[in-house]
Amino acid sequence: MAVDPRELEWRLRVFDSLSFPTRILKTDGTIVAVNDVFLRRYQHDPNTIIGRTCIEVNRRQFPKQTFPCMNNRSCPLCRAVDTRTGQSVLLHAVDEKGDERWEDRVFSPILDEDGTVGYIIESIRDVTNVKRLEKLYSDMRELIDKVVQSSVSGIIAANRKGDIILANRAAEELFGYSSEEVSEVSIEDFYPSGVAREIMRKLRDERLGGRGKLPITRVDIVNKSGDQIPVEMTAAIIYENGEEVASAGIFNDLREKLAVEKKLQEAQAKIGQTEKMASLGRLAAGVAHEINNPLTSILLYGTLMREKLERDHPLSQNLDYILEDADRCREIVKNLLAYSRQSSATKEVFPFNAAVTDSLRLIHDQRLFMNVEVIRDLTDEEVLVRADKNQICQVVINLIMNAVDAMEEKGTLTLATCLDETGERALLEVTDTGCGIPTENLSKIFDPFFTTKGLGKGTGLGLSMAYGVMEENQGRIFVSRTGPEGTTFVLELPRITVSSNEIYESIG
Ligand SMILES: Nc1ncnc2c1ncn2[C@@H]1O[C@H](COP(=O)(O)OP(=O)(O)OP(=O)(O)O)[C@@H](O)[C@H]1O
Ligand SMILES: [Mg+2]
Repeated sequence: MAVDPRELEWRLRVFDSLSFPTRILKTDGTIVAVNDVFLRRYQHDPNTIIGRTCIEVNRRQFPKQTFPCMNNRSCPLCRAVDTRTGQSVLLHAVDEKGDERWEDRVFSPILDEDGTVGYIIESIRDVTNVKRLEKLYSDMRELIDKVVQSSVSGIIAANRKGDIILANRAAEELFGYSSEEVSEVSIEDFYPSGVAREIMRKLRDERLGGRGKLPITRVDIVNKSGDQIPVEMTAAIIYENGEEVASAGIFNDLREKLAVEKKLQEAQAKIGQTEKMASLGRLAAGVAHEINNPLTSILLYGTLMREKLERDHPLSQNLDYILEDADRCREIVKNLLAYSRQSSATKEVFPFNAAVTDSLRLIHDQRLFMNVEVIRDLTDEEVLVRADKNQICQVVINLIMNAVDAMEEKGTLTLATCLDETGERALLEVTDTGCGIPTENLSKIFDPFFTTKGLGKGTGLGLSMAYGVMEENQGRIFVSRTGPEGTTFVLELPRITVSSNEIYESIG
């Protein structure tokens, strides 16, 4: 059927006014028409392209390139002819000047009345900017991914349901999950019960760090093995169009930092304690020496008078009181001298176990242990120490008396000996099931005259004497555990390894 010339003209006008470069091809690729935009875009002279094949024109236009569409099987024109449906191809083209361009070429078949493909319209869309943005976006993503992965802080993101959608290597290490496992767990599994909810509540509270932001917070997280790990974290809610879509957290392991801080605090406390003990020791030594001389006179003349005075003399009772109290003072002076390390020590090598057995033997008063179960947990290893055995026994007896007092004479007393983990220090532990030592008293118990016992019951010199004796013998005394379930005092001395001859000489 002949086409009305007016309609033909109209069709040509439509073709020319298309805003995409467009050409009409025969099914063998011969170009039969191109629109104005095509000529302008590629600066072609119509005479040089009409009648040529699309491959010829492409080769001339992009001489350095081979397009996949030049291969028959992936030629979109051939496919459009075969399938009679539109086909497209994305071309990455570099022209003679070296300019790069991305083109989306769509091949649409024009069917004849009998349904066969007569011509193909090829329209070309320049998608270079889209591609550039895509590349920029993917480069940016790659960079962000690298930054996230190489961060020493653990970074985690979860969706609204709490599923983990991102975890960097540091987070996998901190939480103990592999990259496959981490996607299987929920954010709630990373915290002790209720903490994840509390963090979300704080994140939504605008008064704390602003909307959707959590300032640096100290929390405990839970790793795969169920261990709680102290961390410092910050977190944020991620919004999209004002809606919460995910949350992200950054975690820093505090274990090492806390361990260093604790060591520092312990070292500072130790320096403070040592300084305090040294100055108290000097004071105690001064007082003891000053009192010692008059005390010796009181005891000497008192004893002489005791010998002379008849028992039924009216002043006899008063003299007894004077002698008893003077004797008590002598005991105090003795302890003060031991604390200030002014008493002479006779060192010998002996099994540390003997300090337990001898001390228990020395406490004659069995009534003391009537309601106290005594457990001896002594090491089978030969653990020898070099010290003044009498002084060490005095220390152990003091610890036993304190333990019995703390248990109000009812409970379990355990005396144990062992080696420390290095095997170089011998330990003697005295454990009771008593009332424990309040935290505020822990720094004072070794001070001379510190006591919580009633007037006349304790002088507060037992532990200070013990402190002096242990220092004198290159050892230590400390509380390893105290609380409502009881207290453990530890005596520590260097372990001695000597031949039996040396022991014999030392003891002999
Ligand atoms: N095992 C223990 N359990 C609880 N508190 C203890 C224990 N050992 C010592 N204490 C506390 O430490 C304080 C000081 O003890 P320390 O042995 O120096 O003096 P004391 O027992 O009070 O008097 P002293 O030993 O001179 O008779 C005690 O008064 C008590 O408060
Ligand atoms: Mg005591």
